[in-house]
Amino acid sequence: MGMEQKAKFIVDKSRCTRCGKCINTCSGMVIEFGQDGYPYMKDFERFGWRGCWRCQHCLAVCPQGAISVFGKRPEDSMPLPPSEMGQYMEQLVTSRRSCRRFLCRNVDPLLITRILSAMAAAPTGGNAQSVEYTVIDDKDRVQAIRQAAYAAMDAKARQHIYTHSFSEFYYSKMKESEKTVRKGDLLFCGAPHLFIAHERCAEKWAEDSKANCGIATAYFELLCNAHGLGTTIMSYSAEVLNELAPQAREMLNIPRDHYTGMIVGFGYPEIPYARGVQKDRSAKTHRYSESNRKTSGNRTSGRE
Ligand SMILES: Cc1cc2nc3c(=O)[nH]c(=O)nc-3n(C[C@H](O)[C@H](O)[C@H](O)COP(=O)(O)O)c2cc1C
Repeated sequence: MGMEQKAKFIVDKSRCTRCGKCINTCSGMVIEFGQDGYPYMKDFERFGWRGCWRCQHCLAVCPQGAISVFGKRPEDSMPLPPSEMGQYMEQLVTSRRSCRRFLCRNVDPLLITRILSAMAAAPTGGNAQSVEYTVIDDKDRVQAIRQAAYAAMDAKARQHIYTHSFSEFYYSKMKESEKTVRKGDLLFCGAPHLFIAHERCAEKWAEDSKANCGIATAYFELLCNAHGLGTTIMSYSAEVLNELAPQAREMLNIPRDHYTGMIVGFGYPEIPYARGVQKDRSAKTHRYSESNRKTSGNRTSGRE
């Protein structure tokens, strides 16, 4: 069977207007007009850069809904977002703040499934879709991981051993935060659920893998907040699992050679936000049109 047949690229000629949009959006450059004037998929060596990327852009771009691929029919795709979406996104981004206190109950599993099914379409480098998601969807399981990680972390702290980005000072501040903002849990902020984007970190592509995980983490966080859930992106807990508590890391069931730099804690917020924040990043936003050219401000980074 030719590879193009494995992609199951089918054009409904009764709908196709031969506009060529599928050809001009095909990242793998495997679609062209056939002798009959309709697009068809050329045979190719293999999926990926030597052929079809499996991106489904041909199905997504066709204004007539004339293309199906991989057995996916255009009528089963999500419709485009409404035109007010830009404003909703602005509201979402400004009002999405880290939530560090959660209700101690599981989120409706159907909502988690819904968010994860949208996450299947989140961007990945080269459309390789190699990033994986692990979700701890029961609060008791999170509690068991927390207990294992805590025991190891506390034992190391007694020997003045901390993760690479922490010190006695930062650790003591985190401990202090348990009295209020991190409600008894400096590691996972008492979140009933964890989401971890992870990917095998092959040497040549390690940066791509980390970027894929960061992108997935951000998309997941936005989707959660769009559905009224609270989230915190946590790297400290990931450091503890990776550096101090291997037994707790094992409990995630994630292969050892996978990057796990960020963990999202999520759940119903105990203290929802009432409005957006008003941050100003103009000194750190660099635009190079003539009228806006600025001298660069003080550059700061990291914890202060
Ligand atoms: C890469 C990354 C790692 C973070 N690690 C932690 C963490 O370990 N614990 C925590 O409580 N918050 C953590 N946060 C949350 C940030 O500290 C939070 O985004 C910051 O307080 C800004 O607040 P905002 O999200 O409301 O804008 C992390 C955020 C990012 C982006």
